Order: sequence, then C-alpha cells, then structure tokens
Amino acid sequence: MADPSPLTSEEFRRLAEFLYRRTGMVFSEAKRYFVERRIAERMSATSCRSFTDYFAQLRNDERREVEELINAFTINETYFYREDYQLACLTTDLLAARLAAKRGRDAIRIWSAPCSTGEEPYSIAIWLLENWKEVDDYDIEIVGSDIDTDVLEAAAEGIFRKRALMKLSPDLVARYFHPLGDERWQILDDLRQSVRFSRVNLVDTRQTRLQGAFDVIFCRNVLIYFDDESRRIAAENLYENLLPGGFVCLGHTESMSRISPLFEVCRYSGAIVYRKPMELRA
Ligand SMILES: C[S@@+](CC[C@H](N)C(=O)[O-])C[C@H]1O[C@@H](n2cnc3c(N)ncnc32)[C@H](O)[C@@H]1O
Repeated sequence: MADPSPLTSEEFRRLAEFLYRRTGMVFSEAKRYFVERRIAERMSATSCRSFTDYFAQLRNDERREVEELINAFTINETYFYREDYQLACLTTDLLAARLAAKRGRDAIRIWSAPCSTGEEPYSIAIWLLENWKEVDDYDIEIVGSDIDTDVLEAAAEGIFRKRALMKLSPDLVARYFHPLGDERWQILDDLRQSVRFSRVNLVDTRQTRLQGAFDVIFCRNVLIYFDDESRRIAAENLYENLLPGGFVCLGHTESMSRISPLFEVCRYSGAIVYRKPMELRA
C-alpha cells in the first residue's frame, strides 16, 4: 500500500468538501489519518504525484475516478442478521400492519438502503422464509442499494466469508449457502436472484425518487456518517419513498426524532421504528 501523503489544510478541506457534496458524508480533521491513507491509494492507482494533479483528474472525472474515490471512502461494515431484533419486529408487527393497510394482494416492497455487500437484504429474505408463515402468499420484492459500486458488485455475486455469517446457525448456512471451499460460501441462486441491486445515493433526490414507494425501508448505519443537513435530506427522501403507513428502521445508534418531524415514532416490544403517517399532512 502507498504511504499516506500528508495533505495541507487547504487540500484536506477541498477534498472533504468534494466528498461531502457527492455523498453527504462528513470527513473532519479527526479522520485525517483515514483520509490520507485512502487518498494515497487513489493517487497511486492513478499515477498522480501530487494532490493538485489528482484533484485535476478528479474534476475531469478521468477513468471514472469520482466513482473510484467514493468507493474508496465508504465504510462497508455489515454482517448477516445484524440488529436482528428489527427483523423480528418486521415479522411480528410491521408486515401485519402493512397488510392491513393494503388493498388486495399488492406486492410487499422492502428496501435495504444502504445494503453494502448484500448481507442485509439477503438476511431479510432468509428471515422471511424462516419466520413468516405467509411468505408464500405474497409477492415480496426486496431491493438493495448503495452508493458504492464495488459493494454492489460483491452483493450481486453473493459470496461471503466466515465473519459475515457468524450470527447464522450452521443449519441456516447449510440450507441457504453452498460452500466454495477456502472458507467462502455463496448464497443459493434462487435467493441471489430474488434481490435486485442498484446504485442509489440517499442524498440525491432524483435518484431516490426513481426507486418508487416501499412498505418498509431499512436505512441502518449510514446516517452516522452524515451531518445534520445530509441526514435531513436523506430523511425527506426516505419519507417520499414510503407508502402512507410505511416504516423506516434505523441503526440502533440512530434516531429519526432528532433528524425530522415527518415521522411517527412506533414503539413495538422489540424495536423502535418510524412510520410515515397514514393521513398525510396538508
Ligand atoms: C456501515 S454500511 C451499513 C450497511 C447495512 N445497512 C448494515 O447496517 O449492516 C454503510 C454503507 O452506506 C453506504 N453509503 C454511504 N453514503 C451513502 C449515500 N450517500 N447513499 C447511499 N449509500 C451510502 C456505504 O457505501 C456503506 O456501504
């Protein structure tokens, strides 16, 4: 790996501003070590000798460098059955509430945004198969999206290492994955093909609108990287992407109450989730 090249305060500020405008993520001076390591990698990959050269390439978006830069700066930590109390809440409370609000047999639409390398949307699919007895009675659409195109490629491939599977019982691993050897497992083709993946930036309203309306959105462990303004924009986008009465689940350290007044707080026995009101405000 290339040695981190120290950035001047002005270079750091320009880079952080550039990333913020394109992702909503905030990189403060406290993250300087992380930022310098990542930028050194990108400079080495693009054969740039100085930050000025690199930034010029970036501005011209040579070799899709903006995409590569964003991919290098995302933090993609995830694993199967993470915060599974929300998956339990989905099958004990949220789906029943959604079905009561729906007419006929409309598809149930669930969005994992962001999905990172796919563990979250695949967990939702496995959880439903294991824990929801009505699973065969409804058409269920699960969509995974992320801003990072590398993780989306990995998600579509569906190959995981032991660490990603650590919360799954050996029985679940045996039933939903096939071993590839070398401590890697691939999710079964049926499941792999049941989740649709696409690139969506949560702070880009034009992109989020294209996803249509969902019954439940899992938006977990991304708002922590945003500032108040990006959180507000993301929350308003999620609101627009929910059907009336639809739910948002956030990560356990995140709270919608501090971000946006648009949602109702719903306290179920196992989880706190946020609902778009059934009756929309005038
Ligand atoms: C820590 S992972 C969370 C994955 C999963 N939701 C979970 O809780 O396990 C955060 C993800 O947010 C994505 N991300 C960061 N900024 C984003 C944005 N503006 N729009 C969409 N995804 C974003 C990153 O690429 C990363 O994969």
